[in-house]
Amino acid sequence: MATPLDRTRKGLSTFGFLLVLCTAICRAQLSETFYSTTCPQLLTLVQAKVAEFIAADRGVAAGLLRLHFHDCFVRGCDASVLLDSPSNTAEKDAVPSLGSVRGISEINQVKAVIEAACPGVVSCADIITIVARDAIAATGGPTWSVPLGRRDGFISSKAEALANVPSPNDNFGQLVRNFARVGLSVQDLVILTGAHTIGRSHCAPVMRRLYNFTGVAGATDPSISPSFVTTLMQLCPQNQGKNLIAMDTSNGTFDITYYVDLLANKGLFTSDATLLSNPFSLQLINTIVTTPSFFLSNFAAAMVRMGNISLLTGSAGEVRLNCSRTNNG
Ligand code: HEM
Ligand SMILES: *[C@@H]1O[C@H](CO)[C@@H](O)[C@H](O)[C@H]1NC(C)=O
Ligand SMILES: *[C@@H]1O[C@H](CO)[C@@H](O)[C@H](O)[C@H]1NC(C)=O
Ligand SMILES: *[C@@H]1O[C@H](CO)[C@@H](O)[C@H](O)[C@H]1NC(C)=O
Ligand SMILES: *[C@@H]1O[C@H](CO)[C@@H](O)[C@H](O)[C@H]1NC(C)=O
Repeated sequence: MATPLDRTRKGLSTFGFLLVLCTAICRAQLSETFYSTTCPQLLTLVQAKVAEFIAADRGVAAGLLRLHFHDCFVRGCDASVLLDSPSNTAEKDAVPSLGSVRGISEINQVKAVIEAACPGVVSCADIITIVARDAIAATGGPTWSVPLGRRDGFISSKAEALANVPSPNDNFGQLVRNFARVGLSVQDLVILTGAHTIGRSHCAPVMRRLYNFTGVAGATDPSISPSFVTTLMQLCPQNQGKNLIAMDTSNGTFDITYYVDLLANKGLFTSDATLLSNPFSLQLINTIVTTPSFFLSNFAAAMVRMGNISLLTGSAGEVRLNCSRTNNG
């Protein structure tokens, strides 16, 4: 027969077991209602600011979406992309972001509004995530409920950004491995790259395909549509890497035009064109262009997965007061 002491021991060990289980599992879970008591105005305030930015410059929506991608692919979604470094060795100082990432000042403006309403409560990582969702919706894309509760990290490394943000020269296998590293599938790769339906690029990442393909001076990537080669060469003369070109032919609107252009061999980067080289990926692209709703709903789901990469939650990390620096740095 179990004595009261036995029952107490059993109770304690069950409690201990649940505690261990929960530190392993509960910690990583986000919640859509995370700030509903601590900052009930959060979502309304963010949405109003994003609408204001996009009314002033529609292109900034693209910058804000890309910022979330660059954040999540390096050290997880921990706002490491926002940190300044006096020695220029932060993520934002690495080539994939340097000179091309936009939206950081807008995030800082949103943070100022949120700090005024709910001081010290909302992480910069969550702000980036909500802003990306609102930017997509404001340009015609889907919307969804955003899981929240991310915390901000302490470290931002240029070398890690160089190693982990995919390159426009990557081939299909390299992209698949890069996405798999952060737990994203081939379908996530194909769907999330559909973000290239908004915004613009500098000519620099396209130059090699136009004038020096595979390192051969004067060679052009034969997989680009000849008419598009003519267009691109006009927009991007040699040594004019800073010129700007549209990501797709409807670059102000979040739609399936990116994939339509891709199928016409009018993708900008090798990393875009290479999505046609694999049968599964090609089939997905064909499904997307015939069923736009498939793209929009799967994009929302893939964004939730991207926003879930290697998170700091619970008491890990901190809630930064100024998104540009850690609280004691
Ligand atoms: C698959 C690998 C990817 C590669 C290699 C890649 C590469 C690039 C490059 C080189 C640019 C142009 C930057 C410039 O020179 O101005 C760009 C722009 C952009 N990328 Fe990607 N990208 C990838 C995936 C993604 C994903 C997953 C997202 C978001 C979910 C995204 C969102 C964007 C957006 C919105 C722009 C336009 C930025 C603006 O207008 O400021 N990209 N990307
Ligand atoms: C579309 O691309 C052009 C470059 O051709 C750029 O100037 C413009 O800002 C882009 N529009 C948007 C809304 O991103
Ligand atoms: C062409 O590519 C090769 C190999 O990557 C490189 O060494 C060379 O500098 C490039 N030439 C130009 C004009 O960019
Ligand atoms: C987010 O990540 C956690 C921990 O890795 C996992 O348990 C959860 O299922 C993920 N959620 C989504 C929506 O991917
Ligand atoms: C946030 O920190 C950065 C970098 O230290 C600084 O330049 C900026 O003025 C700060 N912003 C505010 C609102 O204090």
